[in-house]
Amino acid sequence: MARRKIVAGNWKMNKTPSEAVALVNELKPLVASEDVDVVFCVPAIDIIPVVEACKGSNIEVGAENMYFEESGAYTGEISPAMLTDAGVKYVVLGHSERREYFAETNETVNKKVLKAFEHGLTPIMCCGETLEQREQGVTMDFIRQQVKVGFQNVGAEQAKKAVIAYEPIWAIGTGKTATTEQAEEVCAGIRACIAEIYDDAVAEEIRIQYGGSVNAGNAAELFAQADIDGGLVGGASLKADFGKIVNYK
Ligand code: 13P
Repeated sequence: MARRKIVAGNWKMNKTPSEAVALVNELKPLVASEDVDVVFCVPAIDIIPVVEACKGSNIEVGAENMYFEESGAYTGEISPAMLTDAGVKYVVLGHSERREYFAETNETVNKKVLKAFEHGLTPIMCCGETLEQREQGVTMDFIRQQVKVGFQNVGAEQAKKAVIAYEPIWAIGTGKTATTEQAEEVCAGIRACIAEIYDDAVAEEIRIQYGGSVNAGNAAELFAQADIDGGLVGGASLKADFGKIVNYK
């Protein structure tokens, strides 16, 4: 069974609610596709108007983060139930920017992955190495650890539905995309790691995206790789180019 591609935009900390609605309205006709799952991961405050603006389209809405508790005295945090009630289907977890600036660890990411599944949200769990790690030759060791801890206590049926985004940190926002060979090598390594944790059936079904300077010019080659099931797109998801990335064929 061929895996369905999934192309997700990660808007990061961009677009006010009114700008967000305008962008959705601009992109909606451009990202129409029957072959690819399309997700807009947007800032928390944009979620409600974006869900509304996406009604009747093929676009699903994702959050960029979530807390791992149900509710309570966690000022400033957003709970999984708040997301599902607002119509969110996906949640980006453990993005390298959250690991770097907001002290997220493999352990907190794991708690969030478990909590997301408990609420029927599909996690897009991010992993990826620094340039230094790549140069030291420890890329796969580091990513295997991120994946192993991130999926601790996640059942096989849930893992099948998860999305993993491989985003080399040195390729994020730099215009320096990983080569297709580098991207495919790591995505295949992640799939092998999933097969070790679970089995071949889970590894065959789980979807693995590449992220890091994906654009209209390189998407087709990246997404054609055997183990790359789409992309997590930052900068180019805020422009009409995103339509070309979704319709990369
Ligand atoms: P860019 O596409 O801007 O490099 O960002 C990638 C990313 O971090 C998506 O989550």
